[in-house]
Amino acid sequence: MERTLLIVKPDAVAQNVIGEIIRRLEEKKFRIVNLKMVRLSRKQAAEFYAVHRQRPFYNDLLEFMTSGPCVPMALVRHNAVAFLREAIGSTNPEEAAEGTIRKDFATDIQNNAVHASDSLENAAREVAFFFG
Ligand code: CMP
Repeated sequence: MERTLLIVKPDAVAQNVIGEIIRRLEEKKFRIVNLKMVRLSRKQAAEFYAVHRQRPFYNDLLEFMTSGPCVPMALVRHNAVAFLREAIGSTNPEEAAEGTIRKDFATDIQNNAVHASDSLENAAREVAFFFG
């Protein structure tokens, strides 16, 4: 079993689709082992996304992630990291597969509804970031 992190981002919270996203994840046999609603400070968002600090979209990303509450959750499943990445779809919703969360709820490459850890190592770091 693996543990990974999903964040329902502020755009998806504003669309009232927290429940629908959770329903889809539970249907795919993810078990929610921790969950909360938080409004990230700029400092917290900067730390969480520090790996992107040199990217041109970094400042806009911090603005977006601090624009409203988000819902991080720790998820457990066999092969959770890869399976969750598949379930959410490509970062750019124009490239996301049919039936994925981003295909259905993302607006654009930034306002893309959810975040999921991209490796087991980052999953451990990201779960610890929100849940200790
Ligand atoms: P996420 O999977 O959370 O990882 C980094 C985030 O930066 C990404 O989703 C988007 O919300 C945002 N972002 C904005 N522009 C880009 C881009 N050109 N490439 C990748 N991520 C981007």
